[in-house]
Amino acid sequence: MGSHSSAAVLVTGRLAVVTLVSCNTEGDILGEISYAIMQVWKDPNDVLESWDPTLTNPCSWLHITCGNNNSVVSVDLGSAGLSGPLIPQLGGLSYLQYLELYGNELNGSIPTTLGKLSNLISLDLQDNLFTGTIPDSLGTISTLQLLRLHGNNLTGAIPQSFGNLTNLIYLELQWNALSDSIPASLGNIKTLEFLYVLVPELLNF
Ligand SMILES: *[C@@H]1O[C@H](CO)[C@@H](O)[C@H](O)[C@H]1NC(C)=O
Ligand SMILES: *[C@@H]1O[C@H](CO)[C@@H](O)[C@H](O)[C@H]1NC(C)=O
Ligand SMILES: *[C@@H]1O[C@H](CO)[C@@H](O)[C@H](O)[C@H]1NC(C)=O
Ligand SMILES: *[C@@H]1O[C@H](CO)[C@@H](O)[C@H](O)[C@H]1NC(C)=O
Repeated sequence: MGSHSSAAVLVTGRLAVVTLVSCNTEGDILGEISYAIMQVWKDPNDVLESWDPTLTNPCSWLHITCGNNNSVVSVDLGSAGLSGPLIPQLGGLSYLQYLELYGNELNGSIPTTLGKLSNLISLDLQDNLFTGTIPDSLGTISTLQLLRLHGNNLTGAIPQSFGNLTNLIYLELQWNALSDSIPASLGNIKTLEFLYVLVPELLNF
């Protein structure tokens, strides 16, 4: 994908409007996200049909939930038949609490920018086709209670930074290709009730 401005040159007036309005409201951020997503995601079931980037209030879009000041608090697109990469702009939804994208065919790496979602409670990316390493930045989301990354093809080590997720209750990393050492820092998480990090090799299948 090219830069935002060069991409905008290619499109019709309908979408170009979004890039001309350059204030920082949630609506603009979501407009930009929906524009970028339309370029790179395949949506065979038309679940994103209502995501019209020209609407001033995207809170009417399906699969989006807003708080009382039009802040986006939830994106619910589990098992929606979507494929393509996650876009870094998702990290701009600063009030987001739930990012539910499980059970799709999303691929590529998990963007480091998701670590900017400082109000996130649940990040569920299970059962997709993600590759690459788990970004250390996810360990800075101190509000996180559920982190589900299992059933992808993630590699590398479990970040030491996860020891800073002191509100975490569920951590599921199984069914990836992660190295099999579990950082001692996870012992810092007193809230943890469910930890499932086994690599398939250890199960002797
Ligand atoms: C908007 O709403 C969100 C969640 O409902 C809240 O966290 C945030 O502080 C509010 N922002 C403003 C500017 O009122
Ligand atoms: C993601 O999937 C698409 C479609 O199968 C493919 O063209 C693309 O190369 C994949 N990207 C990565 C990073 O694997
Ligand atoms: C997972 O990644 C490894 C290394 O890149 C690759 O050899 C393997 O085929 C991948 N497995 C799946 C199920 O995509
Ligand atoms: C945990 O957070 C503290 C304070 O922000 C920081 O100094 C430390 O480097 C973090 N630990 C890891 C392993 O990232």
